[in-house]
Amino acid sequence: MTDVRPDSMVRITTPELARAYIDEQIEALRAQIGDKKVLLALSGGVDSSVVAAMLIKAVGKQLVCVHVNHGLLRKGEPEQVIEVFGKELNANLIYVDATDRFLDKLAGVTDPEQKRKIIGGEFIEVFAEEARKLDGIEFLAQGTIWPDILESEAGIKAHHNAGGLPEDMKFELVEPVRILFKDEVRVVGKELGLPDNMVFRQPFPGPGLGVRCPGAITRDRLEAVRESDAILREEFAKNGLEGKVWQYFTVVPDFKSTGVKNGKRTFDWPCIIRAINTTDVMEVTVEHLSDELIDHLVNRIITEVPGINRVLFDYTPKPPATVEYE
Ligand code: XMP
Repeated sequence: MTDVRPDSMVRITTPELARAYIDEQIEALRAQIGDKKVLLALSGGVDSSVVAAMLIKAVGKQLVCVHVNHGLLRKGEPEQVIEVFGKELNANLIYVDATDRFLDKLAGVTDPEQKRKIIGGEFIEVFAEEARKLDGIEFLAQGTIWPDILESEAGIKAHHNAGGLPEDMKFELVEPVRILFKDEVRVVGKELGLPDNMVFRQPFPGPGLGVRCPGAITRDRLEAVRESDAILREEFAKNGLEGKVWQYFTVVPDFKSTGVKNGKRTFDWPCIIRAINTTDVMEVTVEHLSDELIDHLVNRIITEVPGINRVLFDYTPKPPATVEYE
């Protein structure tokens, strides 16, 4: 595919422009792929979801989507991928629940970089195993977007999508959103009919809830992160904050403190709420919540999430703090 620099093209801001882009890409994808098969790692994030929806329109069942559940996804995410792609869009979807594999490898690992390495490495391994089971795949689709290209050209980060697959697995790349910025990908996704909570979702790190369960990940503490995150997202949506606040999540650190519940002493974890705004993620400010919302969140989290007896709010901007805790 030839690279067209976005500064030489009209930014996609309307459904009409998105439709024109989709039509053009569908034609290009059909010309590139012919009657061959394409493989895609479908995380359920915006970019890979838009790529999947576009390829389903272009080549239907010639696309094989692999959704690897590493056990560190948010509540309801794997289910949504299965519902939207497996059922509604009738895609060729392979769902791999690799939760035990990931959590077993991560058991006892406290170093954040080591945790990231294990999650990234294991992900490639699971994906490659699935790919080897398939016959006749010639193409690998990726949700590479324009900032990824710019950042790799500038040497800021290695092209985050490109490869990592074993040497002997060579595919031709298919990258139908590579000339788009994130906001354009969202407009295209909406035009493709993907649900709003998929298209407008907040950024979510590759290592997932793993970095929000600081230190050695245990299943019970991970579950406390997942449940409290689900409550926070539900309350943000109810209170009109979804899509307005850039990123919000919960963290459950690995220490316990004393509390009291139903007249009995408890010894449980605190849950930290983080809600931030930014444009470039280099500097972030904190979103201040109303007292009513804070009170409501505290009440819901301590009553509904096992293992939590305190709720704290993180008022620290970046710098000096980073967004994530690891
Ligand atoms: P930090 O914590 O560095 O986060 O201030 C900045 C943004 O990057 C996201 N983030 C990650 N995304 N893999 C990712 O794909 C990672 O390992 C990772 N670490 C942080 C973070 O959620 C925030 O949006």
